[in-house]
Amino acid sequence: MTAPEIRKKFLSFFKERGHAVVPSSPLIPDDPSVLLTTAGMQQFKPYYVGKADPQRDFGSLNATSVQKCFRTSDIEEVGDDTHLTFFEMLGNFSFGGYFKKEAIPWAYDFVVNQLGIDREHLYVTIFAGDADVPEDTESFKIWHETIGIPKDRIRRHGREDNFWGPTGSEGPCGPTTEIYVAANAEGARAGKGVEIWNLVFNEFYGKQDEHKKLVLEKLVVPGIDTGMGLERLAVMLQGAKNVFETDLFRPLMTAIHEAQQGLDDRVVRVLADHLRSSIFLIADGVRPSNKEAGYILRRLLRRILAYTIQYDIHADLFALAVPVVSGQFGDVYPEVRKTNEILAVLTEEKTKFERALALGMKEIERYETISAKDAFSLYETFGVPFELLQELAPAKVKGLKKEDLEEEIKKHQEISRAGAEKKFGGHGLILNTGELKASTPEEVVTVTRLHTATHLVQAALRKVLGTEVHQMGSDITAERARFDFSFPRKLTEEEVKKVEDLVNDAVSRDLPVTVQELPIEEAKKTGALYFFKEKYPERVTVYSMGDFSKEFCGGPHVTNTLKVGKFKITKQESVGAGVRRIRISVE
Ligand code: ALA
Repeated sequence: MTAPEIRKKFLSFFKERGHAVVPSSPLIPDDPSVLLTTAGMQQFKPYYVGKADPQRDFGSLNATSVQKCFRTSDIEEVGDDTHLTFFEMLGNFSFGGYFKKEAIPWAYDFVVNQLGIDREHLYVTIFAGDADVPEDTESFKIWHETIGIPKDRIRRHGREDNFWGPTGSEGPCGPTTEIYVAANAEGARAGKGVEIWNLVFNEFYGKQDEHKKLVLEKLVVPGIDTGMGLERLAVMLQGAKNVFETDLFRPLMTAIHEAQQGLDDRVVRVLADHLRSSIFLIADGVRPSNKEAGYILRRLLRRILAYTIQYDIHADLFALAVPVVSGQFGDVYPEVRKTNEILAVLTEEKTKFERALALGMKEIERYETISAKDAFSLYETFGVPFELLQELAPAKVKGLKKEDLEEEIKKHQEISRAGAEKKFGGHGLILNTGELKASTPEEVVTVTRLHTATHLVQAALRKVLGTEVHQMGSDITAERARFDFSFPRKLTEEEVKKVEDLVNDAVSRDLPVTVQELPIEEAKKTGALYFFKEKYPERVTVYSMGDFSKEFCGGPHVTNTLKVGKFKITKQESVGAGVRRIRISVE
């Protein structure tokens, strides 16, 4: 049975039983409590709670759909036999039209009589009951007495397994019954199968209290929400070994394998999954960015692009995948037919990635060894993932374990959740050294150039005004850069001009920017500038720009001064006694 046949069979089955066929909602949900659509019920949340009227909107209390879904929870597992980021979910829903005694027999009928799955291979689970919600004895009766499933194939589980939801921080939720399919009758008795269908009995409205504990309130009218993964069904019904061998993935898998022979199948699987899901995200209006859904998309695309370098793939995967996915899914999801628009988004992100990566490669050269912190910053700032580091600089990451990096990522996520979002109004920063702040790879490029310019300007100021000039602070974003230094009076126009000329001369000489790591005492002896008051660690890094400038600094900097561009002092002001501030720009 092909995937299009499964979709059609499912929708017709429920249409014949009084359900309105409702199109998939976009992957960006209306519901602000979740980033992306993860389940079929999401678009129906208002109907379960009486905030919208299903009769008016669909002409029925019951609905059925094939929903586009996206889940990030399994992203690291993608490449095995089952896990995906984007998938389709078949579902039937009711908002007061029917409940357990219709929903369970229909599901059984569909599985056994429409899909032709042997009833001896089935087993089911039901909710065991806990302190708040009683055991689901009604479902047990329906499975056992009405349908005739033997007791030893009805298993009971707790909250973890047999209670759904809510999606996001609040919503309809309730106990579930799940249908499993094993390879044979023995497997079914032993409980060794895969879950194919989750039937949720929405009896409650769940809301997290301030301690994140779920507080349940009874819904006035209980509802039905079911979900069955299309890909998993396709595996079963097509006798495929894994999702990537079903008709849902074969065209894309084949196209990639043919475009680049000799690739490991696991690599092709990851590429196929990520290409497909990126295309669907873009088709629904998600654009790569550093926050929320845009960041998820960016991560998928960065992995694809990193793989092309890591595995030396020359084919243009974007140009290859867009027509395949569009041709295959365009009938069901017309939005993926916008191939030009989708390809333009992909291509733009590729250009950005390549620009950032070129900088990242230079940055890698500077490290003798790469710590978890460095690796994290290389990823966040330049998009260089760990796997690519292993490829590009194996010796430098030899001592680095993936778990340490994951630990670092976790730490950062907690920090950014707690602080950065609030501080920067939800504007995600990918570079924040305290001195430099940037939120896109382009901004990283700009602030890096400005940063190098601050070193040059400090050297120039000392040449023009004398060596009592010392940096007092600086603050650099892509929009503005300021540099504070110790000096008692306003600079004359002539002095400003001289400083600018000296900097621009150093820029045009294209001096190499080099970095050295030294024990602090030795570093001081090199004559490099540093903040007298600051406490430095045992070992410090010293950046030199030819013979023009030498300073203690944590970077990042451009690789040679020509990259700074034309330098200008745009404004000068006083910030307290003996401290001047200049604003600078580079073109
Ligand atoms: N909402 C339920 C699920 O996604 C059916 O599993």
